[in-house]
Amino acid sequence: MKRNILVLFGPPGIGKGTVGKALSEKLNLPLISAGDLLRSEVKENSDIGKKASAFMNAGSLVPDELVFEALKKRITSSDAKEGFLLDGFPRNLAQADLLDCVLDSQDHYLVLNLTGSDTVLIERLSQRRICAACGAIYHLINMPPRSEGVCDTCGGLLTQRNDDSPDVIAHRLEIFRKETEPVIGRYRKAGTLRTVKADATLSETMAQIAEIVGGN
Ligand code: AP5
Ligand code: MG
Repeated sequence: MKRNILVLFGPPGIGKGTVGKALSEKLNLPLISAGDLLRSEVKENSDIGKKASAFMNAGSLVPDELVFEALKKRITSSDAKEGFLLDGFPRNLAQADLLDCVLDSQDHYLVLNLTGSDTVLIERLSQRRICAACGAIYHLINMPPRSEGVCDTCGGLLTQRNDDSPDVIAHRLEIFRKETEPVIGRYRKAGTLRTVKADATLSETMAQIAEIVGGN
């Protein structure tokens, strides 16, 4: 079957998770987030989680084989058979190779390269809050919850992510430039890269994406 696969690519804080949720509802495709999968492994204290947590807290990349192990099952699960949105994978050239292995020549495949200035990214990350129970994403100013500190969706407690401290944010940005950004060249060459200016409002960003993926 021809799958519809969209990769949400971009630096920390650009809005991969936020755009991913909106796009997942719009296209009726599951959102598969490498970061969320790893955070649930950490929460469950699984073998993968135990190995991954120090890398994540430091803002470094988790070893490729661990990430792929966490992702593989999800990508091949039955709700992803018509396609999926991939947030936060691939993050280096070796991961791009791993992804190629699960792609079929039939698949319709695009990489949405979400871009924005460091000033916007740092502001977004420092004001971000996430629900400790369901992972919903808020921003204290741009996308605040209806009641302070409480998730609109499930009533869970809103917290800051461990890796959203200023020094870890700086390291994540550095890792993005050094290890992740080089992947862009590969997709540009393949003709599958589409750039989206994502430092706009969510509706402006979604309008740009609709132009690319169609309004269906
Ligand atoms: P991951 O969870 O993927 O973190 P990240 O890439 O650093 O990205 P973020 O989740 O921080 O930002 P986002 O782009 O999703 O932005 P969001 O929508 O939340 O990965 C975490 C860690 O896991 C990595 O550091 C690494 O250790 C490990 N890992 C994950 N994948 C891996 C891989 N493939 N290989 C190895 N290790 C891996 O939005 C940010 C804020 O902005 C929110 O407050 C939101 O409300 C707000 N906002 C969003 N859009 C808008 C808008 N348009 N206008 C105003 N505000 C907005
Ligand atoms: Mg995210």
